[in-house]
Amino acid sequence: MFFDLTEEHLMIQKAARDFANDVLKPGVIERDEHQKFPAAEIKQLGELGFLGMMVDPKYGGGGMDAISYVLAMEEISKVDSSASVVMSVNNSLVCWGLETFGTEEQKQKYLTRLATGEIIGAFCLSEPEAGSDATSQRTTAIDKGDHYLLNGTKNWITNGSSASVYLVIAQTNAEKGHKGINALIVERGMPGFVVGPKENKMGIRGSDTHSLMFTDVKVPKENRIGEDGFGFKFAMQTLSGGRIGIASQALGIASGAYELALAYSKERKAFGKTINQHQAIAFKLADMATEIEAARLLCLKAAWLKDQHLDYTTAGAMAKVFASEVAMKTTVEAVQIHGGYGFVKEYHVERLMRDAKITQIYEGTSEVQRIVISRAILA
Ligand code: CAA
Repeated sequence: MFFDLTEEHLMIQKAARDFANDVLKPGVIERDEHQKFPAAEIKQLGELGFLGMMVDPKYGGGGMDAISYVLAMEEISKVDSSASVVMSVNNSLVCWGLETFGTEEQKQKYLTRLATGEIIGAFCLSEPEAGSDATSQRTTAIDKGDHYLLNGTKNWITNGSSASVYLVIAQTNAEKGHKGINALIVERGMPGFVVGPKENKMGIRGSDTHSLMFTDVKVPKENRIGEDGFGFKFAMQTLSGGRIGIASQALGIASGAYELALAYSKERKAFGKTINQHQAIAFKLADMATEIEAARLLCLKAAWLKDQHLDYTTAGAMAKVFASEVAMKTTVEAVQIHGGYGFVKEYHVERLMRDAKITQIYEGTSEVQRIVISRAILA
């Protein structure tokens, strides 16, 4: 068993770290404050190859492995989770889904532009009454011969107003349950497709989260992904990989907060010595470092399984449930170590604490991850 990263992994990690510190960090507080989408920064992420990292170079991607993806997600998320969620959704949910299950025409038409970051994509599963219970889709895609007629509402959609391509999960035949669900490629601008108002969120405030409304949207049959009725399995398999991305985001939020707390603890003095010389703080830092290392190993293990073409669904769920809990715990402690400074925006840790919470909710709540894990171990 080898734990070493390759030269290439180290280069990718450094490129992501440099980008996060040089490009993302300067404006991150202002974007959070004003809920400003990092449009220029996302364009640059695309130019660096971070929006289609694992896509085959013949479709414009970086041809990198999932381990590289975890490393890059951690570095970007240490600084700006609003940028890293765009990266995660575009890489794991949109590009991977299209590359793995799309037709050659769909790949040429959409994937080539998504992988380079020329356009970005969104993944639309959640509904007002179908979050964790994903089979209860109310959005309908009625078969009309050469097209589907799409009607319904999707909620909390990441990249809601900035995407050009939306992968929409909808019910075609309710009698067939999850086997009656389809996944359709919907383009921005199709008549009847309206983007609702932006959500005013607690965290990841730079990312644009919207509801989407579809009223009699005609989606051509050639825009269906996979066979008729494949939509639910498409969503589940895509989310299995997506969870590695969000686990890595949670890891990055935790390690970003830890690094800030560690640096602060070496400068701040109390009772005649730096605060890291007090056992109360040193033990907190020890726990943070230990838990972050465990979360990192779970993320890398899930990515390694994916790279080996082995089953990674349970490992991804374990990585996500653990890393997101570590992100919450670590960021709360990082604020505590900073004392009063931790409560003000310019020290970054309060934002990381707010950003951490969503990692326990999206791409499957912690409860959903425990359903996935317990089913696997009890099977
Ligand atoms: N891979 C392949 N197939 C899978 C699968 C997987 N990971 N998970 C389930 N399936 C298959 C099952 O084998 C089953 O197939 P058969 O009937 O042929 O045997 C079928 O799908 C139905 O599976 P279940 O009976 O397990 O389905 P369920 O209704 O019990 O649901 C669940 C299970 C795990 C709770 C699932 O509904 C789930 O994951 N829910 C959460 C959805 C979610 O993550 N939502 C987040 C929205 S996306 C988002 O947040 C993106 C963003 O913008 C950031």
